[in-house]
Amino acid sequence: MDELIKRAARDLAAAKNVAALTGAGISVESGIPPFRGKGGLWEKIDPMEYAHIDAFMRDPAKVWQVLIKEMKDIIDTARPNPAHTSLVRLEKMGKMGTIITQNVDGFHQMAGSTDVIEFHGNFAWQRCIDCDRRLETGKVDMSEIPPRCECGGIYRPECIFFGELIPPEHLARSQMVASQCDVLLVMGTSALVQPAAYIPVIAKEAGATVIEINPEPTPLTGSVSDYLIMGKAGEVADQIVAELERLL
Ligand code: OAD
Repeated sequence: MDELIKRAARDLAAAKNVAALTGAGISVESGIPPFRGKGGLWEKIDPMEYAHIDAFMRDPAKVWQVLIKEMKDIIDTARPNPAHTSLVRLEKMGKMGTIITQNVDGFHQMAGSTDVIEFHGNFAWQRCIDCDRRLETGKVDMSEIPPRCECGGIYRPECIFFGELIPPEHLARSQMVASQCDVLLVMGTSALVQPAAYIPVIAKEAGATVIEINPEPTPLTGSVSDYLIMGKAGEVADQIVAELERLL
């Protein structure tokens, strides 16, 4: 692993245009469970029953009660961890451009990263499904479930449910970032959900070095990614930044 940390630091040192794709694994060290795997959210609840747009439209109260309230409680109390702050340190060193994140917790921005594409939206805001009024999640009156807007419409989080399209501007910009970077850090994603999982493929086909950081191999490992640094995002990223500081 030490050799791979040094290799990643060398690759970053030589790179002119670095980007990152992050997933739920990057927030695990903040205490937020991932979706898949041991202890994952989808082990407790069926995503098709709670995280699909059809399920929400059929029974918004059920989805609010089980999924949205639970997400709010978890995100409210958690904070960014060294994985997020390492990416901020890289940005300050001129070695991190755009972060494409599948996460909706807003932790990259909270940590201080300034260029973040929230591929699956953000949980910080709710939107009325009738009049489009936006309200910060913290200000939503949850005494009534599902919470309602003044117009009587139901609030929904500004995140993507299964069955919904990625906002076209986020998709287009992410594809552009992937095709222009020379190093892509892929951190804490199972790479099982499309179209996000295709971002590293675009980077690879455009000639980038794709570096994965994950405690486990993924479908990208050994085919799309140039190498996998097996470990926790916070620990690995911190070591890479320390090595890069030594090099530069
Ligand atoms: P997953 O839950 O599918 O995968 C989490 C990944 O993080 C796994 O590959 C783990 O091995 C890895 N992991 C766990 N702990 C880690 C740590 N400390 N450091 C680094 N990696 C760690 O999460 P995503 O790939 O983000 O979509 O899932 C993609 C999408 O599926 C989510 O955005 C969400 C979900 O359904 C929507 O909600 C639309």
